[in-house]
Amino acid sequence: MTSLSSLEQALVLETVRVTEQAALAASRWTGKGDKHEVDRAATEAMREALNALDIEGTVVIGEGEMDEAPMLYIGEKVGGGARRFPIDIAVDPVEGTTVAAKGLPNGIAVIAIAERGGLMHAPDIYMDKLVVPPPAAGRVRLDWPVEANLNVLAQSLERAVEDLVVVVLDRERHETLIQSVRRAGARVKLIEQGDVIASLAAAVRGTGVHAVMGWGGAPEGVITAAALKCLGGEIQGRFMPETAEQRERLRGMGLDEMQVYTTADLAPGEQLVFSATGITDGELLQGVRRFGGGARTHSVVMGHASRVVRFIDSVHLEEHGARVTIRV
Ligand code: FBP
Repeated sequence: MTSLSSLEQALVLETVRVTEQAALAASRWTGKGDKHEVDRAATEAMREALNALDIEGTVVIGEGEMDEAPMLYIGEKVGGGARRFPIDIAVDPVEGTTVAAKGLPNGIAVIAIAERGGLMHAPDIYMDKLVVPPPAAGRVRLDWPVEANLNVLAQSLERAVEDLVVVVLDRERHETLIQSVRRAGARVKLIEQGDVIASLAAAVRGTGVHAVMGWGGAPEGVITAAALKCLGGEIQGRFMPETAEQRERLRGMGLDEMQVYTTADLAPGEQLVFSATGITDGELLQGVRRFGGGARTHSVVMGHASRVVRFIDSVHLEEHGARVTIRV
C-alpha cells in the first residue's frame, strides 16, 4: 500500500514534466490562429507524458465526455510502468485555446492530481465563482452583494477598495457584475480567457490583481480549487445550469445547483499536486521561448501536503550535440 505522502513526493516533479510537454507541443501552434491544433498538440503530448508515469490514473476532469473527445476524455485511464500510484486527474492541456492561437497572453497547460476521490467530478457547465487570496479566505461569501465582499477583501488586504483590481471574463453576461464592481469603487481587469491562471495570480502577492469574480467553466473551478488549497486562498462556486439537460446532468452527479461549493468541496484531496506551464506570457508565468536547438519553459508546481510552491525554469535541449549556449 502506497502512503499518501509518498504519492505527492513521487509525483510532484513528474507532474511538471506533463505540463511542460503539453506547453512545448502547444507552442508550435501559438500565433498561428488555429485553436484546434493548439489544443490537439497539447492534448496528445499531455496524454503521452501521463502514460509514461508510474500511475494508475483516471481522468475526472478532461477534454469532454468519451463520445465527444478522442483523448483525455472523462473516465479515460492513463498511466504506465508498475502503476504504483492510484490517482484522479483533472487536466486542461490548454487553458485559453483562443488566446494561445492568437499569441495573446495567459495561455497555460495545467493539471491537478489527487488521491482517488480527491477532486470533484464536475460537469462541463458554468460555475459562478468568487476567488480571493489567503488573507480573505473564510471571510467572503459568494451570495453576498459584490460591494460587501469587496469591503471585506479591502480590509483583509489592508488597502482601500479603490486599490483593488478584480479580474472578470469579458463577456456580456458580466455586464451587471462589472458595473457593481466599478460602482463599489474597485477596478476591473477584463480578460479574454483563462480564469485558472487569473485565480492563481489573485492568490499571489505582487501580481496587481486581488480577486476573480463571475461565471467560468466548472471544470476550471475544480482545477482552481486544487491550486488554491495549496496556496491557502479560497474559491467559492455555484453551478449555473442553463438547460434542463444540464440541470438533469448535475442532479445525476449528486450535485446541487443551490449550494455554494467551497475549495474543500471542489478539491477534497489531502494529497494534491497542481502544475501549470506558461504557453504564452502572463503575469505569473512566462510563455515558451524557443531558440535554435531547444526551448525554455516556465512553470509553477505545488503540493498540498508538502507545502512547497516551486517556480521552475527549464531548458529543454532538442538534439544531442547541438551547440546551444544556455543563458541565465
Ligand atoms: P478554452 O477551453 O477555450 O481554453 O477556454 C477556457 C476558459 O476561458 C476558462 O478559463 C473559462 O472558465 C471559460 O473558458 C469561460 O467560458 P466562456 O468562453 O464560454 O465564457
